[in-house]
Amino acid sequence: MIRSPAGPVSIGGVELRNHLVLAAGILGTTGASLARILNSGAGGVVTKSIGPGPLDGHPGPCLVVLDDGVLNAMGLPNPSRDFVQELAPLSGEPVVVSIFGGDPDEFAEVASWFAGSAAGFELNLSCPHAEGFGSALGTDPALVEECTRAVKALGRPTWVKVTPNVTDITEIGAAAERGGADAIVAINTVKAMRISVPMGRPVLGNRFGGLSGKAIFPIAIRCVYELYEASEVPVIGCGGISTAEDVVEMMMAGASAVEIGSAVLEDIGIFAKISRDLYSPDGREPDEIVGCAHG
Ligand code: FUM
Repeated sequence: MIRSPAGPVSIGGVELRNHLVLAAGILGTTGASLARILNSGAGGVVTKSIGPGPLDGHPGPCLVVLDDGVLNAMGLPNPSRDFVQELAPLSGEPVVVSIFGGDPDEFAEVASWFAGSAAGFELNLSCPHAEGFGSALGTDPALVEECTRAVKALGRPTWVKVTPNVTDITEIGAAAERGGADAIVAINTVKAMRISVPMGRPVLGNRFGGLSGKAIFPIAIRCVYELYEASEVPVIGCGGISTAEDVVEMMMAGASAVEIGSAVLEDIGIFAKISRDLYSPDGREPDEIVGCAHG
């Protein structure tokens, strides 16, 4: 097993304690749960996605655990601007605020609420199941560029989380880069569905959802590999990571850091566990590992 020295590390303008970051959407709805994950060994955390107005989300069932992954159609439930108070106690911590909007102005407005407190922003241009949000914009390179530029204008580190549900993910990455992205996060969930055979109808209330977890790890590796070859900015790998070896594989594909989501649902101690297996003072420097599978 290849090991590496521990952080801190600066990725896409954000000072992280180590390379392991909580992905958006998991335990990211309260300041207390974000603090708990930071205290459990995460190098940084990304909040639940916050939008221009409060949303209750899709009708249930919203989340189904499958053999090798998790299928969700939460529908971007969020408290909107009230979340500012939730984050106040975490000022100065490596907290990246995930934001969404229906157009560049909405992205800029939501970001402005957190401009004084967030360590950076992650633009959700990739949720595959929210009408008018997420991948509805994130599959259009021109909109990706404009939304990124609108948020970047606030002068804070700006990460863009991209969707795998496109023919060429490097076109989306390039658009984010043109808009001024400091890092590209790849990937959000893969659009998917299951049907209950006994009931003869889709299992999710929204019918379609997004698949995360181990099942999408090879897709995430492929996307990170392609983006690493095409991008100047760091790529942050996300999708199905649950072991230190997965982290090393992601780094070899080109990830400078990783986000971990579904695995946290199974093991709240996952950050400490991966850190124990991954970090060693006499390990290989991350720079030697990142992208080493290329050329
Ligand atoms: O519905 C949700 O909150 C999920 C968001 C996402 O997949 O980005």
